[in-house]
Amino acid sequence: MADIQDRVRCKALQDKITTAEEAAAFFQPDMNVACSGFTSSGYPKSVPLALAERMEKEPFKLNIWTGASTGPEFDTALAKVNGIGHRMPFQTSRELRARINHGDVDFVDIHLSEMAQQVRYGFFGKADVALVEAAAITEEGNIIPTTSVGNAASFVQGADTVIVEINTAVPAEIEGMHDVYVPLDPPNRLPIPIIRPGDRIGTSFIPCTPEKIKFIVPSAAADTTRSLRPVDELSQRMSELTLDFFHREKLAGRLPEHLLPLQCGVGNVANAVVGGFVDADVSQLTVYTEVIQDGMMDLIDAGKLQMASGTAFSPSPDGLARFFKDIAKYKKHMVLRPAEISNAPEVIRRLGVIAMNSAIEADIYGNVNSTLIQGTQMMNGVGGSGDFARNAYLSIFFTPSVRKDGTISCILPCVPHTDHPAQDVDILVTEQGLADLRGKSPRERALTIIEHCAHPDYRPMLRDYFQRATEQTQRAHMPQLLDEAFAPFLRFQQTGTMQPPQEKD
Ligand code: COA
Repeated sequence: MADIQDRVRCKALQDKITTAEEAAAFFQPDMNVACSGFTSSGYPKSVPLALAERMEKEPFKLNIWTGASTGPEFDTALAKVNGIGHRMPFQTSRELRARINHGDVDFVDIHLSEMAQQVRYGFFGKADVALVEAAAITEEGNIIPTTSVGNAASFVQGADTVIVEINTAVPAEIEGMHDVYVPLDPPNRLPIPIIRPGDRIGTSFIPCTPEKIKFIVPSAAADTTRSLRPVDELSQRMSELTLDFFHREKLAGRLPEHLLPLQCGVGNVANAVVGGFVDADVSQLTVYTEVIQDGMMDLIDAGKLQMASGTAFSPSPDGLARFFKDIAKYKKHMVLRPAEISNAPEVIRRLGVIAMNSAIEADIYGNVNSTLIQGTQMMNGVGGSGDFARNAYLSIFFTPSVRKDGTISCILPCVPHTDHPAQDVDILVTEQGLADLRGKSPRERALTIIEHCAHPDYRPMLRDYFQRATEQTQRAHMPQLLDEAFAPFLRFQQTGTMQPPQEKD
């Protein structure tokens, strides 16, 4: 109790300290609850667990808004008791995914840079409660975030009622790592004045008036982050291909000596690419990304990374312990911003970010599916991949050439769903090779992708498809055999039903 009172520095707020159960009892069915949390970092834990317990006895649902995914104490706990109505803008929980794909949860998949402003615009109604994790509350009532900022600043700004979880597992020294800047809305918006990844333009806290804070709840568990798999052969190969490409781009004068700010999507390939930089002939790197992971601490230790800007610090459990142990050192090289700023199209375009993201699959023209398995089953959401891919200096996508023991080709004639159109994909990398798609027409892209990226077992089929499509469409701009690719849809156009057309006598 002493520790939490030290961290609630606004003395007038100390009598708001209460239990998670009392705070959970405040929620009413169908409330819009806007929460901190971004990729299993900085999300509330005590109140969601108490809510799940209450929902088990007394079923009801809440609409949950966050920055991105949360940890098991939140999304998974609430999904298990079917306690989520609407959910946006991103998730990675297996249990929640099952609820989404069985129609129990209405999931809204949007670009992460847009979420905070759309909430401020009132597109989704008003947030009834903002529920945020904090390392401390300042003398004035302002909130010091923990391992992420996400959309918490805009949520606190818009809500009349704020519940704060003070997490004493997070060292108080995290204070000073954040840079909170909430843009004005149109027509009053100004340029975001970031011209280098480390520029600080805001406050080290989320502004809040003490009167809004209704409850303060203690919490003492660190983020439940994911362990990284050891770098496998495929990721290693994709990392080597990418580093070799950067080297050639430098020689060609298209990349400067210290490259340009890097963005790495989460996951094993991204981590392998970042890991590859540790031994590569690079220096003075900068990162302008969404999520800061373990590999970036390796680069800091190797003296190769000057500054990493993100909205969440989301390492493996070992990485989190390493960070907490040496927070003063790592803090000098990291800044956490609202997701609206870490993913701001304006800044990404200005800095010339090199975007590296993973795909579920791509087609021979370079259209990428990142979200829907077989075109219908939600995986995680588009996340920030679209914010970066569209606005990057170079947009790179990774996918293995095959999955499920080679039974599925990740290079298809036509993706069943497109998150990133070919216009947003400059480079496609599989373990088979790297396809440089810049300046290529669709037919040129198809030949490059089939020969460089497809698995050899699938190349004959893809070549055959492309040849037939080219002939049958008389060399159309983007040859597709739509009756093969979209047979049921065309039947619907012809008949107005999904039934096969009736045979005519
Ligand atoms: N067909 C069928 N299943 C597929 C598939 C395909 N073409 N591609 C992937 N899958 C399945 C995998 O088998 C795995 O299933 P399992 O969990 O049951 O084993 C699952 O999808 C995830 O595969 P995984 O290898 O873990 O994916 P990944 O780490 O390569 O991530 C994305 C790929 C696309 C899911 C992930 O990058 C993502 O969510 N991207 C969108 C958000 C984003 O890019 N965020 C970063 C922006 S800053």
